[in-house]
Amino acid sequence: MKKVGIIGVGEYLPQKILTNADLEKMVDTSDEWITTRTGIKQRRIAAKGEAVSDLAVKSAKAALEDAGIAAHDIDLIIVATITPDMQFPSVACLVQDALSAGNAVCFDISAACAGFVYAIDVASQFIARGASKNALVIGAEILSSVTDWQDRSTCVLFGDGAGAAVLSEVKSGGILATYLGSDGSMADLLKVPAGGSRMPATDKTVQSRMHYIKMRGNELFKKAVNAMAKAAQAVVNKAGLKCQDIDLVIPHQANVRIISAVAKKLGLDENKIYLNIEKYGNMSSASTATALCEAVKEGRIKKGDVVLLDAFGAGLVWGACVIKW
Ligand code: UT7
Repeated sequence: MKKVGIIGVGEYLPQKILTNADLEKMVDTSDEWITTRTGIKQRRIAAKGEAVSDLAVKSAKAALEDAGIAAHDIDLIIVATITPDMQFPSVACLVQDALSAGNAVCFDISAACAGFVYAIDVASQFIARGASKNALVIGAEILSSVTDWQDRSTCVLFGDGAGAAVLSEVKSGGILATYLGSDGSMADLLKVPAGGSRMPATDKTVQSRMHYIKMRGNELFKKAVNAMAKAAQAVVNKAGLKCQDIDLVIPHQANVRIISAVAKKLGLDENKIYLNIEKYGNMSSASTATALCEAVKEGRIKKGDVVLLDAFGAGLVWGACVIKW
């Protein structure tokens, strides 16, 4: 099996910023509540008419440039998203067209907030087996399109953005281990009920706000802490390492209190944990993707460093990945 690594990263965040102060004018909430309960200060919101593929393409172009790879050399595009432009075709196909990446096989992955980690795992298996040479993996979301702006328990949490990575064969280091898990018995905890084949769009589904995110946050919180801690421990063991060997953790950014609880369970020093939740909120699959990109760009990840990606989301699904840079 070939060694596979990340050879380029990129991101794109929409320009519009929605602050906690803005939200105070929209629902019964406060900057103090949002900051202390979640760690979020502001989030980005896509422009009217801007779709997930637009964000994905911009992040992909940045990642290709960073990797020094031309679009026609990409032979696999995987987009992790729960907010595609439309039900079909896949966002990956739209990205392929916009990039003129005619040699790529394209598909989307639905693994919510763990989507970027799932996509990295799938792409790395394509490359390791020799089925692909250069893969473009993107986590892109416009969660503002499925956010109920009248529901204070969810609307303060989410944001829009995209992050991308180019995966190729590497001579040393690369992805040391991955670990994925799912529990469909908890599907009810976080979902958008309508708009699929179970509950197609009708006047009634729109009026009853069934096309928006419904979340049982409190129950999810405990599941998130346990699943992320378990996934991190399992993947570190699989890589033959100890948690203390990790130089930087890139966790899913749903809630700073979840991240702190995971760090405590693993005995990890908090200054080894990368956060961008304060600026962007929870962007589902785009959270780990943009955090990885920013950590690289800011010099928080250097050659030889061991990086842990750790994510959890609706499904339920969880996934972790250890990469030697
Ligand atoms: O990304 C995928 C995975 N997502 C997660 O894992 C999210 C996990 N859950 C969470 O992060 C947290 O549960 C939330 C941030 C969603 C909520 O925090 P919490 O500490 O669990 O709050 P809660 O839902 O237990 O609500 C506490 C109180 C309630 O009031 P009462 O019943 O105590 O009077 C809520 O009505 O806070 C109230 N509340 C708010 N108050 C001001 C809920 N939302 C707000 C708000 N502003 N925006």
